[in-house]
Amino acid sequence: MDTAVLTPLTARRGGPLQGRARVPGDKSISHRALILGALTVGESTVAGLLEGEDVLHTAQAMRALGARLERGTDGIWRIHGVGVGGFTSPAGPLDFGNSGTGVRLAIGAVAGAPVTAAFDGDASLRKRPMRRVLDPLERMGARVIEQAEGGRLPLTLQGARDPMPIVYESPVPSAQLKSAVLLAGLAAPGETTVIEAEATRDHTERMLKHFGAKIVSKPHGERGRRITLQGQPELEPANVVVPADPSSAAFPLVAALIVPGSDLMLEAVMTNPLRTGLYTTLREMGAKIESLATRDDGGEEVADLRVTASALKGVEVPAARAPSMIDEYPVLAVAAAFAEGTTRMRGLQELRVKESDRLAATADMLRANGVEVAIEGDDMIVTGKPAVAGGAEVLTHMDHRIAMSALVLGLASEQPVRIDDSAFIATSFPGFVELMRGLGADLA
Ligand code: S3P
Repeated sequence: MDTAVLTPLTARRGGPLQGRARVPGDKSISHRALILGALTVGESTVAGLLEGEDVLHTAQAMRALGARLERGTDGIWRIHGVGVGGFTSPAGPLDFGNSGTGVRLAIGAVAGAPVTAAFDGDASLRKRPMRRVLDPLERMGARVIEQAEGGRLPLTLQGARDPMPIVYESPVPSAQLKSAVLLAGLAAPGETTVIEAEATRDHTERMLKHFGAKIVSKPHGERGRRITLQGQPELEPANVVVPADPSSAAFPLVAALIVPGSDLMLEAVMTNPLRTGLYTTLREMGAKIESLATRDDGGEEVADLRVTASALKGVEVPAARAPSMIDEYPVLAVAAAFAEGTTRMRGLQELRVKESDRLAATADMLRANGVEVAIEGDDMIVTGKPAVAGGAEVLTHMDHRIAMSALVLGLASEQPVRIDDSAFIATSFPGFVELMRGLGADLA
């Protein structure tokens, strides 16, 4: 992405948001569908793929590793995979742009193949920690040949010729880390086990099952899981239907809650319980969100969500809920700014290592626009007011979710809110501006 030219955008308060919309496909599931398709011999298909820049980088990387991926004129992606351990060494570095999920999952998949690959990304991704995935993968036999300081990108990895299964107790609640180990474990003989103290999104486990792998997930402790994968499975090509991304739906949803008179229907939003912490929290705050037509769509639960403008009140959000809403804190903080009373969000340490330091960026965004915010240790405390001043320009730090959260804030604040750069929205939510305008939002 060309970061030299910034594309600012301004959100202004206007009439209510109304109508129906379907946000693009889930980002987590989209990455996984492409990678598992690439690891499976035969033709797999993906319908509803998120065609955002993050996922397109993963598609390009899978091609560079030897898989064939084509988008049909019908919008269906067809993947001819090379099989577990079947990657070929790419000719040049694999560029993952802004995407932590893409690069960490691909590092895991490459770690189990006898190839050497270089991984890189944009300035934001180059700041993010990769050691967390490299540590277990080295134990499985992969070798890091080159890396930037602190185990960061750019790095070069030599996959294991004979990968070893491990039992890995994850030190951080990270679905990317869990997934990297499981993807490497596909190529190892015997059982690879990941133990997580806090259950994180389980799309990799579900999709591995969908592609025919033997994988068992059992409760571990109070809130954790013990996941065991049988290595070297005969993966079967599969058809994947990608539901709408609840993390993207969060933006029009919070906008509808805080813009008076709004009434929206968001269609076919994935409601996997490991992704819906935001919805639980907003309901506790008094949000009117109705789940309609709940159904199963390709192994994931989905629902149409009807949202109407609501009077919100502050709540305490427990740390234990963080893994199920880790990407949603910036927009929850915006909702909290309009709520009566104080919202305390606990245990946000992982927010510091996202596309930006999201804890700092969220607090800065709100403060610049007249909202009272405190950070105490790993907690963020927002004191809400019925009227938020707005009027500031927000620095988005190459972070799509900060950009969209700030625009949502501007739809309900007294003065317009401008963001310095809207370009990164396309990493996860292509068509965001058009979709929001279609619902009545004033973005220009
Ligand atoms: C993701 C996991 C989360 C999340 C990211 C997507 C995934 O990251 O923030 O947007 O698809 O596995 P962590 O694993 O770092 O928590």
